Amino acid sequence: MEEKSEIVKIKTSRINKNNLLSSKFELRNVMIEIARKFGTPIYLLYEDEILKSCSLFIEVLNKNFGSRAMPLYACKALSCKYLCKLLEKQGFGLDVSSGGELFTSEMSKFPMRRVMFHGNNKTKDEIEYAIDLGVYRIVVDNLFELKNIMSISEQKKKNVDILVRIKPDVDAFTHKSIKTGGKGSKFGMSFDELIDVIDEIKKSSYVKLKGLHAHIGSQIFDLKSFEELSEIMIGFYINLIKKFDLQLEDLNLGGGFGVRYLNEGEEFNLKKCISNVSYIIKKRCKEYGIEIPFMYFEPGRSIVAKAGVTLYTVGCVKKNEENIQVIVDGSMNDNPRFALYGARYLIENISKRNVNVDRRVVCVSGRCCESGDIISPDCLIKDPEVGDVLAVYCTGAYNFSMSSNYNKFRKPPVVLVKGDGTCGEIVRRQTYDDMISCEV
Ligand code: LLP
Repeated sequence: MEEKSEIVKIKTSRINKNNLLSSKFELRNVMIEIARKFGTPIYLLYEDEILKSCSLFIEVLNKNFGSRAMPLYACKALSCKYLCKLLEKQGFGLDVSSGGELFTSEMSKFPMRRVMFHGNNKTKDEIEYAIDLGVYRIVVDNLFELKNIMSISEQKKKNVDILVRIKPDVDAFTHKSIKTGGKGSKFGMSFDELIDVIDEIKKSSYVKLKGLHAHIGSQIFDLKSFEELSEIMIGFYINLIKKFDLQLEDLNLGGGFGVRYLNEGEEFNLKKCISNVSYIIKKRCKEYGIEIPFMYFEPGRSIVAKAGVTLYTVGCVKKNEENIQVIVDGSMNDNPRFALYGARYLIENISKRNVNVDRRVVCVSGRCCESGDIISPDCLIKDPEVGDVLAVYCTGAYNFSMSSNYNKFRKPPVVLVKGDGTCGEIVRRQTYDDMISCEV
């Protein structure tokens, strides 16, 4: 039971008094130190990186929409109480898409007037929970859900403000599993279906339609997709106001802003993207003489991806005729993104940073009982040996949040590294007891 005894205290501990993030060399030193202190596998989260992406988002929205816009962090990218609190201080709201994400935000005492509740098949329990908490908006996905919301709000005699999720039929250029805006999508409804929904809403004295929502997918780099989305959505928005005499206030265009994982290609141009969106929205509103809606965007990946680094220790190296298998102490359990999307990462052997050895193309694999358990099939790193620590960069988004207990491996902790050189666990390593705590 050696593994059990390596559980570390949740208390924040000072590792080094200097600013650890001031250079790449120091950064790597710190990573080795953290790996020794907290064990591996481990997720590191650099707070300054999160703060940087938050302030860029806020600055860009302010510039284009003044006080008439708010970013809602998409919790599915990485959800924990500490992060909710941090984002609240940066002026963000939250996009929560399940009772669990809502609970996490409640436990972090997040102001509910800044929370939108998503999901394409919300349970009645979740709807009740959201209404009891008084979330700001529920984003309605379909007519069935609307009927549930109407009857629950009726029973509770509580007002519920909603947005409706639209399928804008925008085919964003990204992996097929993370496109969401097409006609055949399981999310949202077409504009025609929306008309039925509007008729239904009219029957309720508690449910009020406040605006529209759309999200076309994730990891999108093409600015045209966002422009097309803006044109279509502001068109629907204006149509509803003019033809159906509705008093709408909000337009939520979702997230999806791409992140550069490897040292190739260009960074996503957020400034240009939002400026183009704002141009389209303002132009159309002026043309039709309506007030510019309050704008929401829901960045997830672009807020946290770059702040994350996963550390693994090499447990064995198998030199085969076909490849070199470098097997680490993590797995697709803590990073399923190659297995799911063929996602690529930059990997570095940080134990060999000052050592003059050849680089080799290796396959970094995990310890799950299947051959698809790969972190990267062909990365070029300094010759790895047993005991070396590997750093996988850009793992802040959709890694911890998509982790599982397959093979009953424990989930790694999340250690926050602050700009002032302090660090500590914001999520502790799971224990074996945690894993069986729900079992009879
Ligand atoms: N809003 C809605 C309604 C969403 O469904 C999503 C992501 C976002 C916002 C945030 O999108 P982002 O800014 O993070 O791209 N597991 C996949 C990504 C799935 C994204 C799901 N929805 C991955 O690892 O690439």
